[in-house]
Amino acid sequence: MEANAELRDEALARLAACTDSGDLRSVEKDYLGPEGAIGALLASIPSLPKEKRPLVGAAANRLKKELELALAEARAQLESARVAAQRAAGDFDPSLPPRRGERGSLHPLTLVRREVEGIFSSMGYDIADGPEVELDYYNFQALNIPVDHPSREMQDTFYCDEEHHLVMRTQTSPVQIRTMEKRRPPFRLIAPGRVFRNEEQDATHNHTFHQVEGLVVGTGIQVGHLTGTLKGFLRELFQREVEVRLRPGYFPFVEPGFELDVACPFCAEQAGACRVCKGGGWVEFCGCGLVHPSVLAAGFSGRDDVDVDSLTGFAFGFGLDRLVMLRYGLDDIRQLMGGDLRFLEQF
Ligand code: DAH
Repeated sequence: MEANAELRDEALARLAACTDSGDLRSVEKDYLGPEGAIGALLASIPSLPKEKRPLVGAAANRLKKELELALAEARAQLESARVAAQRAAGDFDPSLPPRRGERGSLHPLTLVRREVEGIFSSMGYDIADGPEVELDYYNFQALNIPVDHPSREMQDTFYCDEEHHLVMRTQTSPVQIRTMEKRRPPFRLIAPGRVFRNEEQDATHNHTFHQVEGLVVGTGIQVGHLTGTLKGFLRELFQREVEVRLRPGYFPFVEPGFELDVACPFCAEQAGACRVCKGGGWVEFCGCGLVHPSVLAAGFSGRDDVDVDSLTGFAFGFGLDRLVMLRYGLDDIRQLMGGDLRFLEQF
């Protein structure tokens, strides 16, 4: 029985030292849990000489009861100490409903992405997806990006495995080719996703950011369809009539290619010089254009169910991070992937 007394003293001492419910749980586990000391004691009984079993068994059960009681007492004491401390701090009001447990919330990028997806879905677009680790072929070659194009250079592209021609995709445009390979025109889709570039980081550049690609393939598609679509999208997004303008822009996978600007939707709200467009009145929104014939040829190559020569299309690509920053008035893109709870808890 001496062993029991030792066990008992040890358990009671540990209980007395508990300062929170986590401590209590670990004492409970060590003595009363399925692998605990009392369990081991009880399990040893069958191997004892027959005449000793009843005594040892009764003692073990008494000890078990005693420790259960002491545990319950310690738990009650800790709880009342906690409430007393809260009351002393002046923030205890027993008439209040119980505090809600902490809940997560959606990331601002998710919120804005869902909004964008909702608008395009309502215009009949599908939502497509593609791999983040991409073959050089899809990220560059099939998109008519020549071997000596600057965007291929080491400083921009994260090469994963040069032997197998794998890169972290630098843009969502490879989803264009992947969907052409899988689908029959006509179709329209957007492909939101993460992209990666090996660039210096600052308030407006991050190594990991987000784009939304758009692709429409059919017949008789012209620049007017492109501007009409983007204007419609922006009208929904900003909930007001917006002006857009096209400037010539070079992207190897479109011809003609443009940069589309939107008349600054924030000027009206701001007294004095606008912080968003710096007084210029226009905000760059996306790259876009009519799908280059070589891109259609690559995406639909070897298809006898598709007459490539009859096809036309438009494409666009815009940055999602930028939209999130505009929407929530953020001034540093790095906040979006930083994982700082003080930032995230505000959404
Ligand atoms: N992929 C381009 C980039 O990352 C953006 C872009 C421009 C996408 C023109 C397009 C487009 O689909 O037509 O800079």
